[in-house]
Amino acid sequence: MLVILDFGSQYSELIARRIRETQVYSEVLSYRTSAEKLRQLNPKGIILSGGPNSVYDEGAPHCDPEIWKLGIPVLGVCYGMQLMVQQLGGTVERAKRAEYGKAAIAIDDPTDLLTNVEDGSTMWMSHGDSAIALPEGFEVLAHTENTPCAAIAHHQKKLYGVQFHPEVVHSQCGLALIRNFVYHICECEPTWTTEAFVEEAVREIRAKVGDKRVLLALSGGVDSSTLAFLLHRAIGDQLTCMFIDQGFMRKYEPEYLVKLFQEQFHICVEYVNARDRFLAQLEGVTDPEEKRKRIGHEFIQVFEEESKRLGPFDYLAQGTLYPDVIESADTNIDPKTGERVAVKIKSHHNVGGLPKDLRFKLVEPLRKLFKDEVRKVGRSIGLPEEIVRRHPFPGPGLAIRILGEVTAERLNILRDADFIVRDEIKRHGFYHDLWQAFAVLLPIRSVGVMGDKRTYAYPIVLRCVSSEDGMTADWSRIPYDLLEVISNRIVNEVKGVNRVVYDITSKPPGTIEWE
Ligand code: XMP
Repeated sequence: MLVILDFGSQYSELIARRIRETQVYSEVLSYRTSAEKLRQLNPKGIILSGGPNSVYDEGAPHCDPEIWKLGIPVLGVCYGMQLMVQQLGGTVERAKRAEYGKAAIAIDDPTDLLTNVEDGSTMWMSHGDSAIALPEGFEVLAHTENTPCAAIAHHQKKLYGVQFHPEVVHSQCGLALIRNFVYHICECEPTWTTEAFVEEAVREIRAKVGDKRVLLALSGGVDSSTLAFLLHRAIGDQLTCMFIDQGFMRKYEPEYLVKLFQEQFHICVEYVNARDRFLAQLEGVTDPEEKRKRIGHEFIQVFEEESKRLGPFDYLAQGTLYPDVIESADTNIDPKTGERVAVKIKSHHNVGGLPKDLRFKLVEPLRKLFKDEVRKVGRSIGLPEEIVRRHPFPGPGLAIRILGEVTAERLNILRDADFIVRDEIKRHGFYHDLWQAFAVLLPIRSVGVMGDKRTYAYPIVLRCVSSEDGMTADWSRIPYDLLEVISNRIVNEVKGVNRVVYDITSKPPGTIEWE
């Protein structure tokens, strides 16, 4: 295992993912993790991430200085390298010229960390400070035009630092450098494979659950579906999946999912029709946060009631993923206090978001995985591509794509429009190029003309975005012809809609969903 100590960089998770791509397990821990804790964990290497601070800022995050004496190889990246230099007695100063973007590195020592890294290759830089005097025993491995110490090493102690970001895709030989650190310097073996994970997870689930019963809230997304497959493989019919139909699903989705799981996968699914209850909760509600809260609350109510009816169950299976458990996920460090600050934009609700105080014990076999790893696991245990590659769908469903009050009539309008969007996007072969493609119904009406008659009806917003992880997104440049087909079909086939508009806002400043 390798450990990444996070100093608040937006790339910390990316480092962890890159290392896992080399089939070595890695974890992100807080920069406050003590040397003693690290000694117990006994990783084969430590990576210090980048971060938004300057090492000489008052209150800037520092790691336990005992870490340098553990005898474990360390790679400092950007802020991590500057911290290594400063804590070991070198000097870091504000650079004469900040360096952002690509820079060509000139290699001074092509061995060790920089084996197979081409001289002159471009690496991604993002720093305002630079190391200007190295601590004793260190030497320069590479420099750039503006940065005399772009890569450094203390060979004997196996301490390394790079000013650039080898983890980002724009860094040409970044992966070669990471592989050198992982395989040659830390001497890790490539044992983190999907097959090994599945084998181990199945063993652990069996050992934990024994002959007890497990309940799982199935949403049909890739996480809960993979979870269902994994548990079913481990404990067969001791697993019960509960599918709560809150009435905000896409057209034909509940029938499709229940049939798929029961008939094709032979996994027991209890279908709960709670449509009326959820709709009643949203009567007269227009505020987006209020909608989200009421839906989340009602979900828990229904879940508790139904689990009593179907139970008793000893365990609840949750699709918690690794980004949910990283202490530092989505947070920033306040340079003054060193505390982490997260700003809440929306109250997310999903089936994994059940409160911990439900009287179940938890089984969370996916908690070590990143989303792309969940997909790989899903695939390897037989989940069909149509589930593995489906677009994300928010827990509160169509209710947060109907602006204003959610009514049965408006749900039908949106459901029909949404069906056309998905149908045409798939038919034109764009489905897998997009992160999401969906319709939003607005609470206003505009004038149109159809068959020589005046219409006064709702507009539909078409939202198609591309994204890597949903954190940032760009609106998709889908062809005009496709826009035209979708618009024509919606206006002609969906009663109550007379206009279609295309959302051309990226995230930020927009969000992907409208509520
Ligand atoms: P936003 O709208 O915040 O969405 O840009 C980012 C991604 O998250 C999805 N999303 C949700 N997923 N429960 C979920 O499981 C939610 O409450 C929720 N809200 C938004 C959204 O579809 C997009 O992929």
